[in-house]
Amino acid sequence: MTASGYDQAARLAATQRVVALVNDKGGVGKTTLAANLAGQVAAAGYRVLLIDLNRQGNLADDLGYRDRAGVDDQGAGLLGALLMGTPLTPVLGVRPNLAVVPGGVRLTDLTPLMVARVQAGGRAAFLALADALVPLTGQYDLIVVDSPPENVMLVDLALAAARWVLMPTRSDSGGLVGMRLVAERFNLAREINPSLGLLGVVLFGTLASARAIHAEVRADVAAAFGGGFDPMLKATIRYSERYAREGRKLGRLAHELEVDAANQPAWWQALRNGDAPGRRLPATVASVSADFRQVAAEVLDALATQEQPA
Ligand SMILES: Nc1ncnc2c1ncn2[C@@H]1O[C@H](COP(=O)(O)OP(=O)(O)OP(=O)(O)O)[C@@H](O)[C@H]1O
Ligand SMILES: [Mg+2]
Repeated sequence: MTASGYDQAARLAATQRVVALVNDKGGVGKTTLAANLAGQVAAAGYRVLLIDLNRQGNLADDLGYRDRAGVDDQGAGLLGALLMGTPLTPVLGVRPNLAVVPGGVRLTDLTPLMVARVQAGGRAAFLALADALVPLTGQYDLIVVDSPPENVMLVDLALAAARWVLMPTRSDSGGLVGMRLVAERFNLAREINPSLGLLGVVLFGTLASARAIHAEVRADVAAAFGGGFDPMLKATIRYSERYAREGRKLGRLAHELEVDAANQPAWWQALRNGDAPGRRLPATVASVSADFRQVAAEVLDALATQEQPA
């Protein structure tokens, strides 16, 4: 039992729909996938909570709320909930059905303070996020946690509060090394969070047509997990420099840019109306949006399958 006094059953109920995006390697698509998974599922009408454990708070850019008054507390609320046990109060109004717990620079102190807590009280200190979710039990259909790279303490915090891990990787070996590091943390996390499971691995930022590479990565990923099963999702996220640039600059998710692209007047129409044609959104944003949609569908399927009575 932790300082909160919650038992394992209470934490299990609170975290059964928590999906943590984890890979120790930076730049493999954790934040992009977290934002688009949460965003599309919320747009479909599910109640979604997105939690940002990053000091850089990149989700604020993906969703366009950086420095917005009343929303971007730079991680202050999350820090208070994790260290002082103050109630976690997700921010509304970022998107319909999507509540957010922002990250940011206020989380800088979190790592050294977690180190101190674990030294004093053991690994149960990592249950702080799970405990913070207990009062919110039943309020969300999906809770997505975005975690930082190269930070064992915060990854352990995320893993102790998750029912599922979703691990993005790029096709190079760095993402696979990061994945193996998480596999080690995974086993430790299960000592305090026995319900933790691997939902799957997502190949991120790849050429949609590179089938041979996809097959190679699939084999590497399966081998990294012992060779007994294939954890790769069917969906992959295709490489799109245009989405990478426009998405964060505009604070728009892929499915939102897809709508924007469909609604923009034809180039010739703009010219005929005397409007500056400006920069146009290419059709590829719709393809990237479809890739995130497939990931979201596989995640929802996995959750539903898992929750069917045996
Ligand atoms: N479809 C895409 N194709 C290529 N690059 C992309 C795509 N979508 C996003 N990116 C870019 O890839 C980079 C890494 O993405 P992201 O920030 O999601 O990774 P991360 O794992 O969260 O990184 P970190 O570990 O630093 O937090 C970003 O610059 C992002 O803009
Ligand atoms: Mg990130």
